[in-house]
Amino acid sequence: MYIVLEGIDGAGKSSQTELLDIWLKENDYKTKIIVEPTKSDIGQLIRKELLNPESTNDINQQKLTLLFAADRLTLKQEILDAKGSADLILISDRSFYSSICYQNNSSIDPKWIYEVNLHTPRPDLTILLDLNEKEAINRCDREEVFESISFLEKTRKNYLALLDVEENIVVIDADKTIEEVQENIRKVVKEKLEMIRKD
Ligand code: TYD
Repeated sequence: MYIVLEGIDGAGKSSQTELLDIWLKENDYKTKIIVEPTKSDIGQLIRKELLNPESTNDINQQKLTLLFAADRLTLKQEILDAKGSADLILISDRSFYSSICYQNNSSIDPKWIYEVNLHTPRPDLTILLDLNEKEAINRCDREEVFESISFLEKTRKNYLALLDVEENIVVIDADKTIEEVQENIRKVVKEKLEMIRKD
């Protein structure tokens, strides 16, 4: 199974991913955490670009859309292997939904983002950690270019809009304690695992 945690910077994806991983392992699932951007050469190039203040401009966002899509394909085989398996659970910190929400600007038709991500496998379950941008920015070190309040506000709106058009996305309020958020994530994952077992 391929489970994705999504949300704006500061929403708590990384810590929640790790706690979910621990719980699944305790329950005898084989798991693996994956992270986007990856550690591939393309991922490292992206990391550099994320420190460049020019990265929010139109041309650079177009370029980043392609780099993120290419970087994601380095995970494709691993994701496909997990998708076909009932016991192996891949927990991913971000997915192509990050591109849909972060690279969305007036110079980019969202359809094009879907198109360049056509060959990326779709998550079985996406958990959107929703947090208002003011709280989120306080939790960021603000080193990377997208970590500004206006950018995160726009990005959060894009995430919430996804709920109307995409299936298999569940939103969880991230403005709670780490333990409460994790408890709610586990409930959602448990339900999904039970559904799969019944099929
Ligand atoms: P992030 O998960 O925040 O990594 P870290 O916490 O280690 O800095 O991801 C890095 C940034 O990349 C974040 O601002 C979101 C952005 N991003 C995109 O803009 N598009 C994408 O497709 C992905 C995967 C990430």
